Amino acid sequence: MKESELSTEPIGQNLIKLISNLCFSVFVFSVLIFTVIAITYQPPDPWLESAPALTKLFTQTENATFQDDNSVLKTGEDLVAAATPAVPPAMALNPITETVIEKSEEKLSNLSVKSDSECEELSVVNCSDPRLLITVERFNLKTFKSIVFLEYQTPVNGSRPDECDVAWRFRNKKEKSWRKYRDFRRFRFGYGENCTYKIVHANGWHSGTNARRPRIRPNATRTGAHAKLAPPMRDEEINDTIPTLGSEMNFRKGRYLYYARGGDYCKGMNHYLWSFLCGLGEAMYLNRTFVMDLSLCLSSTYSSSHKDEEGKDFRFYFDFEHLKEEASIVEESEFLRDWKKWDRSHKRKVPVKKVTTHKVTPMQLKKDKSTIIWRQFDAPEPENYWYRVCEGQAAKYIQRPWHALWKSKRLMNIVTDISGRMDWDFDAVHVVRGEKAQNKQLWPHLDADTSPDAILMKVKEMVQPWRNLYIATNEPFYNYFDKLRSQYKVHLLDDYKELWSNTSEWYNETMTLNDGKPVEFDGYMRVAVDTEVLYRAKTRVETFYNLTKDCKDGINTC
Ligand SMILES: *[C@@H]1O[C@H](CO)[C@@H](O)[C@H](O)[C@H]1NC(C)=O
Ligand SMILES: *[C@@H]1O[C@H](CO)[C@@H](O)[C@H](O)[C@H]1NC(C)=O
Ligand SMILES: *[C@@H]1O[C@H](CO)[C@@H](O)[C@H](O)[C@H]1NC(C)=O
Ligand SMILES: *[C@@H]1O[C@H](CO)[C@@H](O)[C@H](O)[C@H]1NC(C)=O
Ligand SMILES: *[C@@H]1O[C@H](CO)[C@@H](O)[C@H](O)[C@H]1NC(C)=O
Ligand SMILES: *[C@@H]1O[C@H](CO)[C@@H](O)[C@H](O)[C@H]1NC(C)=O
Ligand SMILES: *[C@@H]1O[C@H](CO)[C@@H](O)[C@H](O)[C@H]1NC(C)=O
Ligand SMILES: *[C@@H]1O[C@H](CO)[C@@H](O)[C@H](O)[C@H]1NC(C)=O
Ligand SMILES: *[C@@H]1O[C@H](CO)[C@@H](O)[C@H](O)[C@H]1NC(C)=O
Ligand SMILES: *[C@@H]1O[C@H](CO)[C@@H](O)[C@H](O)[C@H]1NC(C)=O
Ligand SMILES: *[C@@H]1O[C@H](CO)[C@@H](O)[C@H](O)[C@H]1NC(C)=O
Repeated sequence: MKESELSTEPIGQNLIKLISNLCFSVFVFSVLIFTVIAITYQPPDPWLESAPALTKLFTQTENATFQDDNSVLKTGEDLVAAATPAVPPAMALNPITETVIEKSEEKLSNLSVKSDSECEELSVVNCSDPRLLITVERFNLKTFKSIVFLEYQTPVNGSRPDECDVAWRFRNKKEKSWRKYRDFRRFRFGYGENCTYKIVHANGWHSGTNARRPRIRPNATRTGAHAKLAPPMRDEEINDTIPTLGSEMNFRKGRYLYYARGGDYCKGMNHYLWSFLCGLGEAMYLNRTFVMDLSLCLSSTYSSSHKDEEGKDFRFYFDFEHLKEEASIVEESEFLRDWKKWDRSHKRKVPVKKVTTHKVTPMQLKKDKSTIIWRQFDAPEPENYWYRVCEGQAAKYIQRPWHALWKSKRLMNIVTDISGRMDWDFDAVHVVRGEKAQNKQLWPHLDADTSPDAILMKVKEMVQPWRNLYIATNEPFYNYFDKLRSQYKVHLLDDYKELWSNTSEWYNETMTLNDGKPVEFDGYMRVAVDTEVLYRAKTRVETFYNLTKDCKDGINTC
């Protein structure tokens, strides 16, 4: 007995030691694995995801020509958030959940409660009563399941004594970015049991016009009383002003990577992005500020004139504010001006390293101390494409910073508006026609499979009748889908024309960017908005593999 006790004890201890060592090793190992995963984890490359065939075209260095289809690439806000979702602290508002509502309700429990007989007579509601807001918060939470509510404004009077207008900011769960949007709606109230508020009627998207952010007027004093009730929403203005370098010394202290215009200019938008993100990726790799030309050329494939259109502003399409936060950039003309100014006023010119071929790799430039590295792309096509820099060995070192690229918030406001008008309760079908439908060699069945009858038959299998059905399509004929109206509430992009018409906010805002000249809502913007609305649908029917068995990139590619 004793012996065995004596002998078992060390064994037991050893065993425990062994197990704990083992556990520790496992722990260390799993931490290691996790770290490795965290380091090597890359958010999915939208290009690889959406068009493997095109990637092949791109990466074949010996023949780097590239056929663009008119699809819109997924950008940062569409991609699954990577290991570290970059939430700017200023934007990190807490969502208003049931718990939050209960907490604020507790605080009010001391307020005097009217008796049933008292409130039955009331036909007037007090919009600033906090319990009224709580009723709205609960209602919204129950009604809009795909929305995260972030911040409410104190409700204001509606158009009748029993109505109030309420404004709030929200985020869509389907969107991976942390961008906030605003809505303001009109509610009609009645009294439920124990004199509690109850919502009798809720109006639609942007109906609470009294709660809309008041335009900042120079003479605020006269409207002072009203302004107090409806404080302006913070941060709603988009700040995509062009940053300046400030002093000359700041310029000289910087390190720049300057890409001269190459063969990419006026190519399709996907080509542009593939190239631009290569340049930006190289700048990040070299720890340099990227010199950026904000003036784009819209390829003829997207322009209504069917000609290449120069002088389009990057900010029409993409979120420059977000880019400024994510990457070190300087606008080209600011940069050139400062450069010239320095060279004129100093004996020692700014050190410049000119690189004339993409065959000089980023790795070779890593050690270079010149203030400016100036890549020039003067060789004949396709040697003059920016993205060639990121091919071959360089691909292992340079990562395209997709996370830095979001779509323009002005476009996304339109997307939100369209989705909001359908109360985020819609299904969608993506109908690809256009050139592909005409090309019977590569897509033999596409045309027939996207005929109105075929679509209706297929969609009926997947979408309940009389649902809101949004149709994202490149079919130009508006009435093409009329057949579906017998079964669905059909919505097309053109039904929302007023959102970019000359009375719209979008029109006003883009005009300001464009030196007061009106901006056309062009083909690329159309596809971008169409695609983003599609992403927000509850059920999504795709052309390829849902409507037709043809392959996305042509025969025998799937
Ligand atoms: C690229 O390939 C296409 C088709 O295979 C060919 O017609 C074209 O000449 C090639 N271009 C270059 C630059 O090699
Ligand atoms: C609520 O009333 C109780 C007593 O009736 C009091 O102790 C408490 O401090 C009050 N709370 C608030 C927030 O006024
Ligand atoms: C409305 O409610 C607010 C907050 O409870 C209160 O301060 C205000 O006096 C009320 N107004 C009327 C007219 O009852
Ligand atoms: C809101 O409506 C109530 C009742 O109709 C009224 O007493 C109050 O003055 C109104 N407030 C404003 C700011 O118009
Ligand atoms: C109404 O008040 C009574 C008594 O205070 C309570 O028992 C009942 O649960 C209340 N009803 C509601 C719906 O809050
Ligand atoms: C603003 O108020 C000042 C006096 O308070 C007045 O002189 C001026 O004309 C007003 N401006 C506008 C745009 O109403
Ligand atoms: C806009 O952003 C720039 C930095 O890019 C900042 O310097 C400027 O103060 C901002 N303007 C406003 C109105 O917030
Ligand atoms: C990048 O540049 C900044 C300032 O120019 C410097 O502080 C930093 O150490 C550099 N980082 C690397 C990895 O070279
Ligand atoms: C807006 O466009 C319509 C027709 O397209 C035109 O009649 C109207 O004058 C325009 N309004 C403004 C403010 O430009
Ligand atoms: C656009 O600007 C015009 C003129 O400045 C203004 O009358 C109109 O109300 C603005 N529209 C919107 C939707 O902001
Ligand atoms: C469309 O096809 C894909 C792939 O076959 C499938 O996963 C998806 O569920 C289909 N969509 C619908 C709405 O049935």
